[in-house]
Amino acid sequence: MADAGAVKANGGRVALVTGASGGIGLELARLLAADGCDVVLVARSEERLRAAASELKGAYGVATQVVAQNLSDPGAAGRVKAAVDELGLKVDVLANNAGFGCDAPFVESDPARQRALMQVNVAAVVELCRAFAPGMVERGAGGILNVASMAGFMAGPFMSTYYASKAFVQTFTQGLHAELRLSGVHVTALCPGPVRTEFWNAADAGQTLLAHAAMGAPRVARAGLRALRWNKTLCVPGIVPKALVFATRLVPRSWMAYAAAALQLPKRKG
Ligand SMILES: NC(=O)c1ccc[n+]([C@@H]2O[C@H](COP(=O)([O-])OP(=O)(O)OC[C@H]3O[C@@H](n4cnc5c(N)ncnc54)[C@H](OP(=O)(O)O)[C@@H]3O)[C@@H](O)[C@H]2O)c1
Repeated sequence: MADAGAVKANGGRVALVTGASGGIGLELARLLAADGCDVVLVARSEERLRAAASELKGAYGVATQVVAQNLSDPGAAGRVKAAVDELGLKVDVLANNAGFGCDAPFVESDPARQRALMQVNVAAVVELCRAFAPGMVERGAGGILNVASMAGFMAGPFMSTYYASKAFVQTFTQGLHAELRLSGVHVTALCPGPVRTEFWNAADAGQTLLAHAAMGAPRVARAGLRALRWNKTLCVPGIVPKALVFATRLVPRSWMAYAAAALQLPKRKG
């Protein structure tokens, strides 16, 4: 819900970041605030969002707003939009970053968790773009950064729905980028390789090889916002992830799937 009165737009740009309670989202919010944007922070953990909001207000003097919503609830994106409207804010930069993985053999996985994953990683991304992109187009300016993943370039056994959700975000973002090319609205998909955040433990994948090859979240967030500024369609931060993405063009998709399965194996044996 919106915390009316906590924010007063300073006349500058407003950025809305989902999944801003930690990890890449918090780094995106820090960078956007450092750049002078007022920020609207969205996630489930209200306390963590409030701590982030006061950090950003103190460090950068920007106005902040907390909108605590569970994006796996149908209608949550609409409630985020209503909260923003109620505050009289216009979103100039939308960072669709909230997301999570689910590391389990598909046949043993929890159907409710799979449904929540598709709602947060896919449906909420589309719904928030649909909610905020029209205003940007009308104003002839704005930016949408959708956080996909290197996982979107391949199939991922044991995290099949997660990898597929990121393929969706990537393809959807590429389409939107082309559609809005002449509108003044920048649209970019950020496709990081493994990043050191709470993501891996939340996905029950903390012991996998991938989890141990991670980059820092600040570097990933910086690369994403730089790419958005330049209106790049896709951004894959880091040399090794870039090389791996390049390899996906050369190696048959079925082989890539076996390689991805191997990277998840240590967890399965443990
Ligand atoms: N870490 C990686 O290796 C990696 C690699 C490539 C792409 N990514 C992508 O990067 C994005 C950010 O992940 P991260 O690595 O920063 O992970 P993280 O530290 O676990 O952060 C995930 C964020 O999403 C929020 N979130 C999760 N479920 C939510 C829900 N149902 N409703 C609202 N917010 C929710 C979390 O907040 P609450 O828990 O407070 O709700 C948190 O702020 C994700 O889309 C992820 O798929 C991560």
